[in-house]
Amino acid sequence: MTTAPPPDASIDQAKSIEYWNNVEATPNGMLGGYEYVSRIDIQGSKNFLAKLRLKTASSPEIWKVADCGAGIGRITKLLLTTLNKGKVIVDIIEPVEKFTKEAIEGNNLKDEREDGRVGKIVNMGLEQWDPVKTTEERGEKYYIIWNQWCVGHLSDVQLVAYLMRCKNAVLEGGVIVVKENITETKDDMYDETDSSVTRTDQKFKNLFRQAGLRVVRTEVQKGLPTQLYQVRSYALRAAV
Ligand SMILES: C[S@@+](CC[C@H](N)C(=O)[O-])C[C@H]1O[C@@H](n2cnc3c(N)ncnc32)[C@H](O)[C@@H]1O
Repeated sequence: MTTAPPPDASIDQAKSIEYWNNVEATPNGMLGGYEYVSRIDIQGSKNFLAKLRLKTASSPEIWKVADCGAGIGRITKLLLTTLNKGKVIVDIIEPVEKFTKEAIEGNNLKDEREDGRVGKIVNMGLEQWDPVKTTEERGEKYYIIWNQWCVGHLSDVQLVAYLMRCKNAVLEGGVIVVKENITETKDDMYDETDSSVTRTDQKFKNLFRQAGLRVVRTEVQKGLPTQLYQVRSYALRAAV
């Protein structure tokens, strides 16, 4: 008897890049035609972060943050550059060049670039990116590493290895956030449209455990249209 290969075995990163290269570099493109969901998503993320109480007596004066799989920087603009009363520098990591080009020279992030709230813009997939190296170059770790609607492009093995690198690049008291679609089917689902997987809640929790991370808070995004996947946020810190 032969067993079927796991869903993530079908991920082909070249196909994903080809798919995203054909998507318009706009907020609507980032959200698969559901631009109106952005406001609900961002408000939910603000509430989620508020409950984590990241602003403390020992938190850094200027927060270094990473927006991973950032697209054109929708989350950078609407969420991350507004944190800590704007005393924040957000690095953008994104493999599709036309999206990073928009982040570097387009109108979407013009104000944020001009007042120094956008830091490095790295044109790379998360399976290759080493946050430890980026933070070593700057001499300071991240306070928040935000990953949203992108880790389905990494295989399970790649995701665990990536999260381990993130764990070593986050300040004590800081947090890694993963906010992703969740399937309520028994197993993960492969989507050939963009060559990605949608994972189950249980699979995510297993992978976080394998990466040596614990879930300090998790929440389902409320208010999304019922035809969409459930979306869940996880706040993660080192297990020990
Ligand atoms: C649904 S969009 C989300 C963009 C952004 N996170 C947001 O919520 O607005 C998915 C993004 O994942 C990016 N992506 C594709 N393959 C990736 C990879 N291997 N590593 C990181 N990001 C990837 C795409 O280029 C695209 O920008």
